[in-house]
Order: sequence, then C-alpha cells, then structure tokens
Amino acid sequence: MKNFKQIIAKHISKAINIDEQELLTYIEIPKHMNNGDYAFPCFRLAKELKKAPPVIANEIKKKIEQEIGQVEEIEKVEIVGGYLNFYIDKKVLTSEVLNEINKNEEYGQSNIGNGKNIVIDYSAPNIAKPFHIGHLRSTVIGAALYNIYKKLGYNTIGVNYLGDYGTQFGKLIEGYKLWGKEYNIDEEPINELTKIYIRINDLCKEDESVLQACRDNFKKLEDGDKYCTEIWEKFRTLSLQEFKKVYDLLGSKFDSWNGESFYSDKMQEVIEILEKTGKLEESQGAKIIDLENEEINTPCIIVKSNGSTTYATRDLAAILYRARNYDFDKALYVTSYEQVLHFKQVFKTAKLLGLDEKYINGLEHVSFGMVLLPSGKMSTREGNVIKLEELLNESIDRAKKIIEQKNPNLENKEDVAKKVGIGAIIFNDLANNRVKDEIFDWDAILNFQGETGPYIQYTYVRTKSVLEKIEQIPSVDQININNLLDMYSQKILKIIYNFEDILIQVTEKNEPSILSRYLLDLSKSYSVFYNENKIIVDDIEIQSARIYLTYAVGKVLKIGANLLGIEMPNKM
Ligand code: ARG
Repeated sequence: MKNFKQIIAKHISKAINIDEQELLTYIEIPKHMNNGDYAFPCFRLAKELKKAPPVIANEIKKKIEQEIGQVEEIEKVEIVGGYLNFYIDKKVLTSEVLNEINKNEEYGQSNIGNGKNIVIDYSAPNIAKPFHIGHLRSTVIGAALYNIYKKLGYNTIGVNYLGDYGTQFGKLIEGYKLWGKEYNIDEEPINELTKIYIRINDLCKEDESVLQACRDNFKKLEDGDKYCTEIWEKFRTLSLQEFKKVYDLLGSKFDSWNGESFYSDKMQEVIEILEKTGKLEESQGAKIIDLENEEINTPCIIVKSNGSTTYATRDLAAILYRARNYDFDKALYVTSYEQVLHFKQVFKTAKLLGLDEKYINGLEHVSFGMVLLPSGKMSTREGNVIKLEELLNESIDRAKKIIEQKNPNLENKEDVAKKVGIGAIIFNDLANNRVKDEIFDWDAILNFQGETGPYIQYTYVRTKSVLEKIEQIPSVDQININNLLDMYSQKILKIIYNFEDILIQVTEKNEPSILSRYLLDLSKSYSVFYNENKIIVDDIEIQSARIYLTYAVGKVLKIGANLLGIEMPNKM
C-alpha cells in the first residue's frame, strides 16, 4: 500500500530541509475527522526556527502547495493553528485499501521487524501455587504482544519463566515431610499444596527451628540433594498438569519453558562477575549491590545470609543467558506493577554484568494493574483466591446462557460459548491502558452491546451474515469506488488503512489496548454504516461496493481479534 505519511514527510522535508525519517515521527493521525487525515504539528520546530508555529505552518504550506497540487494522493492541505492538516484523496485511499484487502491474506503483515529479536517473558505462574488472575493478565498481555511483534516481522521468543524455585520450596518440602500423607496431593495438587503452604507458614511464625529447617531444605535443593529434588519434581509435574488446563482454554503457547530452576547452575557466574566489579558488598552476612547511586534506596540482594540466592539473582542469570542465546533487541517482562522495584533493581544491577549496552537498553518492565474482583484484591498467602480455570469455565457457562436466550437454535453452541466466554475475558484484560487497575464485572464483560469482546465478535458475525446473503463476494475490479466516497464508508476505509500503523504503535508502547480500542472503533463505525445503509439493494453496483466494504471489515476484525488471542465465531 502507498505510505501516505511517508509521502507527506517527503514533501515537508524538501521544503524545510529536515530529514524525512525524523519528520515521520512528528506526523499524527488526528482524533477528529475535521482535522484531516494526517496532521503535522509545528510546535517542535518552533524552538529550533525561533518562529511561532502558525507562521511556520504558513511558510511550509506556501512552499509545498504548488507541488502538492500535482500529487494525486493529497487532496488538500489546511492550516489550523500550529498544524498543517493533510487530506488524502478519497479515491486513492479507497482503491489502495480495497486492492490490499484483495491481494493480502495476511493484511497488516510487515517486515519492519526483520532481523530483530524480541524476548517476551510472560505468564510465569508459580509452582504449587494457584494460577491466579494476575497471571491471567500477564498471559493475555504477553500473548497479544507476542502475536503483534510477530506480525510485524520480528523474531519473537515467548518464555514462560515458571516460578519453580525459591525459598518457598524449602517450606513446602518441610510441610510435605511433616504432613504429606494427610493431603490428597495427586488429585488436587494446587489446592492441597496451598493448604500445606499456609499451614507450614503459620508454624514457621511460631517456631524458629522449623523456619530454619525450611531454609536448610532449600539449600539442600540448590545443592542437588536427592530427596528434596524428587519432591520438588513431583510438585512441578503436578502443577504443570494443572496450568496446562488453563493454557488449553486460552490457547496459549510458549517457545521456552525455562523457569527459575533452569538458572540454578547459572547464578554462580553472576556472583563471580559481580564480585570482580568490586561492587558486591557484605552486609549483615548477605551479599548485596548497593543502588543508592542509582537512586534506589533498597539494595539488590544477590546472596542471602544463609547462602541462598534470590529471585533477583535468577533474573540476572536469565538476562545473561537471554543476551547470549537470543541476542535480544528487546526483552520484555510482563508482570503486575507490584514488581516495579524488583525490575528496577535487577535492570540497574544488570549494568554490572559486562553486557553490551544494547542489551541493557532493551530491558523493559511491561507492568500492569491489579484485577479488582467485587470482593477486593486477592492474595495467595491467605488462600482466598479464585481459581482461574473455574473463572474461565464460569465465563463460558454465562456466555452459553446468553446465547441460549438470544439464539436458541444456534448450532455448535458449546464451541461458540467457548469463543465468546474466553474472548470476553481476554478483551476485558486488554481493553484499557494496562497500568490501570481493572474491575472485573461479569455483566459488563459479557455485554453484547458494550465495549467488549462479544461486541466485536457480534459485529464480525454481522458481516458474515451479510455476506451469506449473496452468492459470491464480487471481485475487486468490479467495484466502482465512487460508491464508497460517502462519510460512513470513508470513515471505515481510513480505519482499515491505519491498521499497520496501529500495530506499530502497540509495539512502541507495548500497549495492546491500542489495538483493542481500534477494533472497537472499527466495529462502531461499521455499526453506523450498517444502520445508515441498506447493503442488499436493487442497484447491483452499489450493492457490490457495500458488500466489499463489509468483507473488508470482517477480515480486519478477525485478523485483529486473533492477534489479541480472541477467536471469532461465524455465528452467535
Ligand atoms: N513468577 C513470578 C510471579 O508470579 C513472575 C515472574 C516474572 N518474570 C521474571 N523474569 N521475573 O510473580
């Protein structure tokens, strides 16, 4: 497709002698149609050129006006305040979009990421603990980013960094030793292990010697003790079996399952490197990196006073490993904002590992807000968690009830309910800025008319049922684009045109909600178009044009929703 932004940048660049690539980053897509299709703000230039933005805008306009008059892609340019607003020729835009939709099965695909490696660390539930709703957010956000980077041509590596290591296993092993027989671990591993964990935790609070025994267990585990390793492996296998049930429901896949334990033999190197820098300090028997100079008040603990390593030590070993094995351009960590301090400490400490600066600059914590259930925040320690598998199944059940009411004769109700129920939860997780806390409210999530996953699926289904009414989708060269120059069609065509730009914006901010909002925008615009126009009409030429537009909307909705991890039903 023609790149309109680039064309505009080229002309402005000629006029003011600033690099085209740089100008590209200035150009915005205005929120409001009245401000054209692209806007060039002159505010950044004002400082440099020591002139008021409207003056600069006028000068640029004067210089490019004549040339632009000859350019078929640009219809006109207007000045509003300090902005130059560009209007793209409607016919050029329309034929560009229709032709691209026609020839490109993978609409939106790009190669801008070719040759770049992106590691995405996401999901990462903890062995022997419930897979909770925070891990769901991580899984959903991580998967969406994974798909979108991939679509743009990046080499993407999805890592499930399982929490399968750490002092809590010392506790669990102790609890298992003491009371293992009382619990039905093989049947209900996570539930039962959680109970053991709560019980041993309580005991540790009362009895210092038990706490010491737990610490010793973990040390033994690190040293490869046979008994401890065997129990740990049992916990891991059983937990993974449970996690897989959730992953199957969500359709999650990972390229690597290297969890924390994978790094158990790779931390010594980290300690040695840090020791050589002279920055590893002794403090109350522990080894720490002081980060005062980095404006972080809490030091990064590398080795605890009892000789055990920490969550941070393992993350440092993982950075070394990922730099060497994946040569990453970006390494993203998708966790709740509760871990902001942890990642600050780890990223600052990583500067001491002797890695190329490229790797340090590529580290990024993609944090997200809490999920607030009506009953408040959840925690593992107290044990009042909602099981995710149950939550997902409840969503499917609720979707089924709605479908049964709305469309009792629908075939494959089970399958549709699954797509709608799961899609609703995924969309809810991705609908708003990720750092915002999310309120989980069943009625809102499953509302077919709200800003929801089911609404997008419903709009898609609507396009499908329109297309079912005709024998064949017309071929693109039969379409007379004069029938698509009205306001409602143009709105849709512009949105479709911007698809790739939206995907790029997602990767710039690691913010999948940009795509979610986009899909809502497209759905709403189609609903307006649908309400304003009859699609099946006597005039075959008009009908063909509207059908083709409908087909295009359906195609982009499906590609976009799939990128978010949402499956589309054909009927609902
Ligand atoms: N297992 C951790 C948790 O549940 C998340 C791990 C995130 N990834 C990382 N490299 N630290 O909180």
